[in-house]
Amino acid sequence: MIAQSPFAQTPSKTIPLDVERLRRDFPILQTSVRGKPLVYLDNAATTQKPRVVIDALRRYYEAQNANIHRGVHYLSELGTKLYEDARLKAQDFIHAADWREIIFVRGTTEGINLVAATYGRSKLNEGDEVLISGMEHHSNIVPWQMVCGERKATLKVVPLNDNGELVLEEYDRMLSSRTKMVALAHVSNALGTVNPLKRMIAMAHAKGIPVLVDGAQALPHMKVDVQDLDCDFYAFSAHKMYGPTGIGVLYGKSALLQDMPPYQGGGDMIKSVTFEKTLFNDLPYKFEAGTPNIADGIAFGATLDYVQALDWTAVMHYERDLLDYATEQLSGIKSLRLIGTAREKAGVISFVLGTIHPHDIGTILDQEGIAVRTGHHCAQPVMIRYDVPATVRASFAFYNTKSEVDALVRGIGKVLEVFA
Ligand code: ALA
Repeated sequence: MIAQSPFAQTPSKTIPLDVERLRRDFPILQTSVRGKPLVYLDNAATTQKPRVVIDALRRYYEAQNANIHRGVHYLSELGTKLYEDARLKAQDFIHAADWREIIFVRGTTEGINLVAATYGRSKLNEGDEVLISGMEHHSNIVPWQMVCGERKATLKVVPLNDNGELVLEEYDRMLSSRTKMVALAHVSNALGTVNPLKRMIAMAHAKGIPVLVDGAQALPHMKVDVQDLDCDFYAFSAHKMYGPTGIGVLYGKSALLQDMPPYQGGGDMIKSVTFEKTLFNDLPYKFEAGTPNIADGIAFGATLDYVQALDWTAVMHYERDLLDYATEQLSGIKSLRLIGTAREKAGVISFVLGTIHPHDIGTILDQEGIAVRTGHHCAQPVMIRYDVPATVRASFAFYNTKSEVDALVRGIGKVLEVFA
């Protein structure tokens, strides 16, 4: 079975990424932690923010603050324009066909909850199935579990092989006339696996089943084209792609979104209200009740300008090289076991080190100024699958360097000395 590589179109020659210059865009990367230069390898939890994003937030509160969509005064109109510009930039960035398909949400988790609570609740009936995979983050498990419980539907799970890849033959077998929704991670936050989504979406569509994609861990590492993927829903968070917390996007095909009931009720999502009847607003506002996250939405616009200007071919080349280097260096450490060795990976290396608890490893690395995440990474079923209580996860961004990987390897050496 041929895995679809996100790097397949990458030409062999490209202009190298000027990482030192890019690092200077991120103020926090110039700081120290515990007296050591910060080595930030927790990018899958949240990425750092470039100065332009921080400046956009400050500018909003210092000079632009007003509520939007409802004022006729200068600041309200300015804020509305900036916020709606961010929506157009998001549309452009993921190549959505229509700006009304971009729903602003708090983040990936809220985007998935929105679909489960509206599409799921209105379409699922007793005996129906929702198909997810064994590598999902809790945010792409629990909302489906909740709605399946309520509607007496069944949650089915596509298994993983020992490398951390989905077993496509099983996936194909599990897609049935009972399946009403497929929900899959684009990139696993715990294993780094990149799923062959285009192919998996085509397989689901061949049986008339819509597909939701959790794109939280993909957009920081690759350009995504939702029309090319042909996914029905795609959810992502700004803070994992160099933007602010508290804002993200649910993309949905407009025909599906039109047909879905609203999520929350309140201001902005209505056309008119009487005590007898409410007429709901058009897309995308039908799904955006209440005062939106204006400041972070506007700063997300600045984020999108920043990431749109990156040379993504160079970013993908650089990150692949960095991940290969880190994998090679870590594989040389006796007693280190990599969790997740898929052929196609992005951004993440998870590992365990003999019987040393990952939290102890994380604490010792922290003394060296190295930030990694330790624990189950909100993917407890993945830990169960590989029979580990937790892992250490080093996760990368385009601003990380090979010398930071070397610092990680030296830090692991210190851990081994302490536990010798
Ligand atoms: N989902 C985030 C992570 O993987 C928090 O760390």
